[in-house]
Amino acid sequence: MDSVPDASGIGTFRRGVEADAATLAAFAARTFQETFAHSTSSANMDAHLAAAYGVEQQGRELRDPGSATLLLEHEGVLVAFAQVRRKAPPIEVPYPRVIELQRFYVDVPWHGRGVAQRLMAAAKGAARELGGEWLWLSVWEGNARAIAFYAKAGYVDAGGTEFWLGPDRQFDRVMVAPLG
Ligand SMILES: CC(C)(COP(=O)(O)OP(=O)(O)OC[C@H]1O[C@@H](n2cnc3c(N)ncnc32)[C@H](O)[C@@H]1OP(=O)(O)O)[C@@H](O)C(=O)NCCC(=O)NCCS
Repeated sequence: MDSVPDASGIGTFRRGVEADAATLAAFAARTFQETFAHSTSSANMDAHLAAAYGVEQQGRELRDPGSATLLLEHEGVLVAFAQVRRKAPPIEVPYPRVIELQRFYVDVPWHGRGVAQRLMAAAKGAARELGGEWLWLSVWEGNARAIAFYAKAGYVDAGGTEFWLGPDRQFDRVMVAPLG
């Protein structure tokens, strides 16, 4: 999309607040669906979106003091977001003070333009403010682009875990990176 500038041409990140719940819920559901629709049935996808991305759920997450949401807007439109929270990984990792990178999404027209790198730097800053020394995340094993991006951003594979998308059992990689 030619009208989309590179990451240096867009604004700064801001912290999400409860008033962002509806916009964020819609953006998060759309980007999740675009990323994973091919990996499950539409009924499973609909059930998962209703459970994980409703406005109420999003509002709870935005209010949670153990969680931080970063939003990036361009000309008033949300183009990327990340959420970090105090939550232990599903597998044992030999690192202290590990914060979860719970969600990390850049809208498709902005892929490959440096937005994800800026989003990662902002997410790391927010995780440090939550007292973290390490970040962990889980990523679907079939999400090759995200895994390549995380490796480029300094994450290493720490093991496998499972993720239930409705009744569909899927397999994720757990990756970790230092915050220092
Ligand atoms: C994951 C995401 C944030 C990465 O941002 P991005 O701007 O696409 O990342 P980049 O383009 O800088 O890096 C992706 C790398 O994967 C590579 N890549 C692209 N498609 C790939 C594929 N199918 N298989 C393997 N590598 C791939 C790119 O070439 C690039 O590597 P390079 O810089 O060495 O060329 C973004 O793609 C996104 O939001 N995806 C949808 C949501 C998502 O999957 N979120 C993560 C959930 S855990």
